[in-house]
Amino acid sequence: MGNNIFLTGDLHVGKTTLINQLISKLPVHEIRGFRTSRYYQDKKLAGFYIEDICSPPVVKEHKFIGRCVNNNHWVSIPATFDDYGVKILEGCLRDNPKLIVMDELGFFEDDATLFQEKVLQILDSYIPVLGVLKRKETDFLNLIRSRKDVLLFEITPENRNIMSGVIFDELLKITSFESGNHHLDAESYEETARKVFAPVYSLIAEQIKEKTNITAGLCLDVGAGTGHLGIALAKITELNVCLLDCSREMLAIAGKNIVAAGLQDRVHTLWGNVYNLPQQDGTVDLVISRGSLYFWADKKCALKEIFRVLSPGGMAYVGGGFGSPELKRKIDAQMQARDGCWEKNMNKRVRATENLDYKQLLADLDGLNLEIINDEANMWLLMRKNINYQAGTAWAE
Ligand SMILES: C[S@@+](CC[C@H](N)C(=O)[O-])C[C@H]1O[C@@H](n2cnc3c(N)ncnc32)[C@H](O)[C@@H]1O
Repeated sequence: MGNNIFLTGDLHVGKTTLINQLISKLPVHEIRGFRTSRYYQDKKLAGFYIEDICSPPVVKEHKFIGRCVNNNHWVSIPATFDDYGVKILEGCLRDNPKLIVMDELGFFEDDATLFQEKVLQILDSYIPVLGVLKRKETDFLNLIRSRKDVLLFEITPENRNIMSGVIFDELLKITSFESGNHHLDAESYEETARKVFAPVYSLIAEQIKEKTNITAGLCLDVGAGTGHLGIALAKITELNVCLLDCSREMLAIAGKNIVAAGLQDRVHTLWGNVYNLPQQDGTVDLVISRGSLYFWADKKCALKEIFRVLSPGGMAYVGGGFGSPELKRKIDAQMQARDGCWEKNMNKRVRATENLDYKQLLADLDGLNLEIINDEANMWLLMRKNINYQAGTAWAE
């Protein structure tokens, strides 16, 4: 199914108006992206510039993507895309919004290879895109048109009024604003965690304890969901555990689970995002994270952020799994019986995450010792921060 929606059509047919109508119906704080705007001089079209849709419209030299010179000759400025444009797109990935807007992709970016790469990275990610595609034949635009995950709508003067409703319905299917397929409903997640996944958490907690040998200090569970792993680890250690998640609904249930376990004095919830952890540098003894990595569009950025908060000698146990092959087989069968698409969806998500070359992805991170556990039932990254690590030396970019 298409995870990305693009509108195309003739000049001035109303594609941008349609995009604006669509996003005006959605919570604006959940949307990121860029728009390109026209620049007029003496009432004549003199250029185009690119803007972050979250910033107020300000025309500045470094935002121009194309200019009219010698009256009627247009030149593109690929450096703007590769610099400012890439910054906007990196911000989109970091903020992990529910929708990314790209209005529009055209031919000015023909030679902007860094920008093109970032666009493709976003299209590959789990974050849905709503964009405009110029009706032009270029390698880049053709590549986007030919993607299986792109749903392309041709807008005409005749259909543009009814298309608003049609596209809005499609948008709701691919996003989690209402009932999209990337959204984890907290109530049903908790029901499955209790009825199906329950034995996994205590087993993995034991494995983390054995492998890291960290049993006191501060533990951060990133993407903790309803909190079962962090709580299981708190039960068998003296760790203070912070359950962090970007979903307030998940954390509300985690709060109840903490009380039910009688661990209010050592386990707390915290709303936050892996790309921008609230903890200070070097303050966390142990980071754990199960099943969340699959949702992180920019894994390098997320893992770098986890490394930042680790104390010297601290460890992170990040990835996903079932603890043992027997449990995996049992749970796979139970989940497949509940949801006929379970194995297909799992395989797709897991393959995209587990086939990454993490050694290479994190090769620039000084002071990191990385071990990878990748077996039949689990994929874990074990990150250890060098005991002699000194702040400010992490990234050799
Ligand atoms: C599959 S659940 C795993 C929950 C829990 N760790 C477990 O094993 O049951 C993934 C969790 O990651 C959270 N998540 C996804 N992206 C995140 C992000 N960028 N920052 C923080 N949490 C995130 C989701 O809200 C969800 O609760």
